[in-house]
Amino acid sequence: MDRASELLFYVNGRKVIEKNVDPETMLLPYLRKKLRLTGTKYGCGGGGCGACTVMISRYNPITNRIRHHPANACLIPICSLYGTAVTTVEGIGSTHTRIHPVQERIAKCHGTQCGFCTPGMVMSIYTLLRNHPEPTLDQLTDALGGNLCRCTGYRPIIDACKTFCETSGCCQSKENGVCCLDQRINGLPEFEEGSKTSPKLFAEEEFLPLDPTQELIFPPELMIMAEKQPQRTRVFGSERMMWFSPVTLKELLEFKFKYPQAPVIMGNTSVGPQMKFKGVFHPVIISPDRIEELSVVNHTHNGLTLGAGLSLAQVKDILADVVQKLPGEKTQTYHALLKHLGTLAGSQIRNMASLGGHIISRHPDSDLNPILAVGNCTLNLLSKEGKRQIPLNEQFLSKCPNADLKPQEILVSVNIPYSRKLEFVSAFRQAQRQENALAIVNSGMRVFFGEGHGIIRELSISYGGVGPATICAKNSCQKLIGRHWNEEMLDTACRLVLEEVSLSGSAPGGRVEFKRTLIISFLFKFYLEVSQILKKMDPIRYPSLADKHESALEDLHSKHHCSTLKYQHMGPKQHPEDPIGHPIMHLSGVKHATGEAIYCDDMPLVDQELFLTFVTSSRAHAKIVSIDLSEALSMPGVVDVITAEHLSDVNSFCFFTEAEEFLATDKVFCVGQLVCAVLADSEVQAKRAAKQVKIVYQDLEPLILTIKEAIQHNSFFEPERKLEYGNVDEAFKVVDQILEGEIHMGGQEHFYMETQSMLVVPKGEDQEMDVYVSTQFPKYIQDIVASTLKLPANKVMCHVKRVGGAFGGKAFKTGVIAAVTAFAANKHGRAVRCVLERGEDMLITGGRHPYLGKYKAGFMNDGRILALDMEHYSNAGNSLDESLLVIEMGLLKMDNAYKFPNLRCRGWACRTNLPSNTAFRGFGFPQAGLITESCIMEVAAKCGLSPEKVRMINMYKEIDQTPYKQEINAKNLIQCWRECMAVSSYSLRKAAVEKFNAENYWKKKGLAMVPLKYPVGLGSRAAGQAAALVHIYLDGSVLVTHGGIEMGQGVHTKMIQVVSRELGMPISNVHLRGTSTETVPNANVSGGSVVADLNGLAVKDACQTLLKRLEPIISKNPKGTWKDWAQTAFDESISLSAVGYFRGYESDINWEKGEGHPFEYFVYGAACSEVEIDCLTGDHKNIRTDIVMDVGCSINPAIDIGQIEGAFIQGMGLYTIEELNYSPQGVLHTRGPDQYKIPAICDTPTEFHISLLPPSENSNTLYSSKGLGESGVFLGCSVFFAIHDAVSAARRERGLHGPLSLNSPLTPEKIRMACEDKFTKMIPRDEPGSCVPWNVPI
Ligand SMILES: Cc1cc2nc3c(=O)[nH]c(=O)nc-3n(C[C@H](O)[C@H](O)[C@H](O)COP(=O)(O)OP(=O)(O)OC[C@H]3O[C@@H](n4cnc5c(N)ncnc54)[C@H](O)[C@@H]3O)c2cc1C
Ligand code: FES
Ligand code: FES
Repeated sequence: MDRASELLFYVNGRKVIEKNVDPETMLLPYLRKKLRLTGTKYGCGGGGCGACTVMISRYNPITNRIRHHPANACLIPICSLYGTAVTTVEGIGSTHTRIHPVQERIAKCHGTQCGFCTPGMVMSIYTLLRNHPEPTLDQLTDALGGNLCRCTGYRPIIDACKTFCETSGCCQSKENGVCCLDQRINGLPEFEEGSKTSPKLFAEEEFLPLDPTQELIFPPELMIMAEKQPQRTRVFGSERMMWFSPVTLKELLEFKFKYPQAPVIMGNTSVGPQMKFKGVFHPVIISPDRIEELSVVNHTHNGLTLGAGLSLAQVKDILADVVQKLPGEKTQTYHALLKHLGTLAGSQIRNMASLGGHIISRHPDSDLNPILAVGNCTLNLLSKEGKRQIPLNEQFLSKCPNADLKPQEILVSVNIPYSRKLEFVSAFRQAQRQENALAIVNSGMRVFFGEGHGIIRELSISYGGVGPATICAKNSCQKLIGRHWNEEMLDTACRLVLEEVSLSGSAPGGRVEFKRTLIISFLFKFYLEVSQILKKMDPIRYPSLADKHESALEDLHSKHHCSTLKYQHMGPKQHPEDPIGHPIMHLSGVKHATGEAIYCDDMPLVDQELFLTFVTSSRAHAKIVSIDLSEALSMPGVVDVITAEHLSDVNSFCFFTEAEEFLATDKVFCVGQLVCAVLADSEVQAKRAAKQVKIVYQDLEPLILTIKEAIQHNSFFEPERKLEYGNVDEAFKVVDQILEGEIHMGGQEHFYMETQSMLVVPKGEDQEMDVYVSTQFPKYIQDIVASTLKLPANKVMCHVKRVGGAFGGKAFKTGVIAAVTAFAANKHGRAVRCVLERGEDMLITGGRHPYLGKYKAGFMNDGRILALDMEHYSNAGNSLDESLLVIEMGLLKMDNAYKFPNLRCRGWACRTNLPSNTAFRGFGFPQAGLITESCIMEVAAKCGLSPEKVRMINMYKEIDQTPYKQEINAKNLIQCWRECMAVSSYSLRKAAVEKFNAENYWKKKGLAMVPLKYPVGLGSRAAGQAAALVHIYLDGSVLVTHGGIEMGQGVHTKMIQVVSRELGMPISNVHLRGTSTETVPNANVSGGSVVADLNGLAVKDACQTLLKRLEPIISKNPKGTWKDWAQTAFDESISLSAVGYFRGYESDINWEKGEGHPFEYFVYGAACSEVEIDCLTGDHKNIRTDIVMDVGCSINPAIDIGQIEGAFIQGMGLYTIEELNYSPQGVLHTRGPDQYKIPAICDTPTEFHISLLPPSENSNTLYSSKGLGESGVFLGCSVFFAIHDAVSAARRERGLHGPLSLNSPLTPEKIRMACEDKFTKMIPRDEPGSCVPWNVPI
């Protein structure tokens, strides 16, 4: 065998030759560390986030075609890249040469905030454009299905995409001749475009044209190699692993014969994650390369034969083509496969994953195997011993040895037969999110009638997600043969299937009753689908479907996006060059898009740098009996393992009232608690060694995980907090009605795209230490590190260039990690880097507090709430962190937009054995607000009024007083509410929703509108002080620094706008390098919506000081330039540098008296959302959202709208799909994007309209603006209540009129189970306590 061991591929047009390749190396670290191409980002390492997207191009010498496809670099072994061209974000354009139109447009359309997801987005769009220069919007949104963004809410990214479509600006849906921009859809007046929108936030006419001839060409050398050079098997090896890439089928079989246990790696999307996350190791890997036989596409007389090596994307294209060409009766199975191929993973995974890999992996939730199984597919196998065929049936899927491949065999191709006349095949799935999410349950179903007049001749039903393998309901199907296709048959079928496909109450994945319900709901859908076709074919023989059933068959999914934005015009008096109020692009927008923006882990390796990784507790409450480090310490490259013993008297830090321990000493209090830290020469070595640390635990009692358990054990941090107004007890005596209720709200993972990252560099002189860290609170990092190292703060400098998303999660938790990392760096006198993997980050760092809210409301029959007694319990986890502050803010903000004349609200932070929860955008308000709104919903239901009416009745009116006796003027609140009613055509649409609901039994729509009063302020003057430093250089250029952190919210952009206005110079003349404790000391945490507000006032102050000094010079030479003035000032010994300072707003709260003036101002708003739900599956779609906000005078409408939308989508995620799951032992199950679903592009409302109220008042904030970072999160609950409305409609129709209490998040599971019907009644239920559940609601 002719073998080569040299790896040759191209990256961005440059040849890469690797002689000693480690087969374990993935492309992502190779690009980032070896080639220093850091534009491609790490977000999850498992193919789930798209941050690492690159384009892979391959030339096929037989077809003479180049295939470009997107791929996740984190899952591509570099050994698989021989002969390919890799294009990264750096390869398509840069600010040094020419930026690519995709990069330009995503930046200029404001599609970047923190920018961490942007290179991945750019590469997904770019790759699509390489294949389709004039794509449709559907193709574009489809291409972005595998890319997550936590900041933008996707609307501006969609806007950027639209500019590449042939007819930009519209949804391009011309079905029935109606498009989204047409004035009337369903007979309803739509948002009046022209008159209501402002000029666009970007100028399309400025954009560079897309010119496909300018793209990087495929390297000719690779073409020649592919055509001329003989193919040679490649062999790569390291001490641990061998990699064989055979190039002929014969060789492949020989390798498989020699190494029968070795996996045949195709896309590596199944084996890769197993090796990475599940500890599976393969010493030998076989990865076939360009073996033609594996890519066959053969049309035979009875079906299609598809090569096992075809990617799922290729299979999708082939099937799409086939269904166009063949008659419908032949292509039933292909249609079903296409349906699931449309939502399976994202485009990157579909392009990498192979058909063979998918089938052979036999994932229990595989979307294709259930269809292939019912479609009677067969597998063509080959080994050195010869060919054979096996059926893809239940035995194969459950890996029965006699029905499986032999170890030496490979799968060559798959036969997928045509369907026959009177044969019907369908596919169903329901996932937590509509796209790019593994199914909770999926199914393939087939029935064959033949000429039997509606009598079942053959029936096959398979399910995924309901057991360790795809399950076929074989016995049930057998028993139904010969039956008529009618309702009795359906009823029997449901009972049989439920018995056969039984699911234990403890089944992994939980949601057991939901899964049981889906099993038969899908069956019902299939029954209806087939009945409808039969009826169409023979209306006389087959009965009509009852009208009410028709709605079960339509799809919810609508991908067309349309948005309108309305913002304030600048006044005519404003100077044309004054940038305040203009939609200036994010300062780093273009750098985000080219990958040039540098994040913490993009910093180059420092000489002798070490990597630190943590070992965390696997028990929730236990004594540490022993820790054995010997094996870890003996591993190659390991330098040290730091334990609590090393840290000794510096193992904790106290910021609040309780000290936080860094590394566990003798006990652990949650799973994920830091126990020790392994220090090694490389990340890989540190991670391997960490696995060898042996810790023996002894479990302790009690184990408290849930809020209810904490209440039982009286486990709270500090005594209750209370706010009281009026006389609640007296008021309860005079009301017409009293209700009591409760709502539980789950937590939320920050899921910032950039995980916790830092690099600590000892300077080697005077004990100085530089800390480069992704944090919102550099001063705190400085303090905690200084205290740990027993140094004065002036020796520790903390630097933050930018942060890839934070949302509250990069302050206190980051501090603990930084303290240990700095300790290690100091101990060894070497730089130490620590970057958490996604799973570690999710496990260790906590998130938003879950809440339990209990309420007792006293109200009049007309809806007026006169008395409200409320209790808030938060699940704080095992340490204090900011939990008490969160509770306090929750109490102060719980009134939302309502005047409750008599109110008592008490709050407790529960101490539990979970990772400590912390600050998260909204800081208690999203939870407290939801509890209040739920109470209002219940009051409305009791009064027989619409929730909107009860909301309006109880709303603050003009000048009023809050429960803490701060005066408010609610004029703008009422205006937002009224305007939102008007722009959303609320009344008309409410009537339309009711009509729809009356006509559709299985689909329901819901409409809800919520008001917002978001108080902005920090509760103390000191917390609101801010400083800035402005230098003018002699060439007239300006450098500005301030204490705020750029984490995507655009604060640096706004600060440059401030300097530009104050000094009257163009923004291009002003530069901002980042934030550092060296330039601005003692800066407060960046958070609480006020970063631009406070720091802007400090920047303004500095500029005004400078202007005052320079005024005489400028007035002497008014026509001079800044260069002239700076030079003159220098010559006259006038300082060109000034510190600016803002003392903070007056702010106080006296908890004893329950009164004060904690907030400076209120952000008002309202949001109206409409959803449609599928009562049979629990699926929902946000059809339209209208938001009206009072933002004061917007400094930058593009940034402000971005904050509103981004926060809204994050809130929508919080209230609908983001669900954390903990085991009964306190282990977090949801540790990555595959298990935890944040909103993806499919979740953006089909229509999204944002309007900002015209500025109406002058305030003492920065240019009368308002901070908007957090408030929009709460508006996401309009979707929650719209779903609630839809579910209530379904329940009413089913005769269920009692009160409906729904917990958050309102997942498909909760929606489905609340829409009770005969199917939910049919399923077996487990007696409480009869089984140990997979997860517990914490
Ligand atoms: C982020 C992400 C999201 C996903 N979402 C979904 C989803 O929504 N729905 C869904 O159904 N699936 C989903 N998947 C799973 C995905 O479909 C499978 O991982 C994929 O199809 C496996 O194909 P592969 O080529 O990458 O397999 P590989 O990882 O390369 O190989 C998998 C296995 O197949 C064997 N094998 C491969 N080819 C052959 C052959 N020719 N002969 C013999 N053995 C062979 C290998 O030995 C190995 O054991 C997702 C995966 C990821 C990573
Ligand atoms: S880092 Fe590769 S997909 Fe998330
Ligand atoms: S801009 Fe997309 S993750 Fe921050």
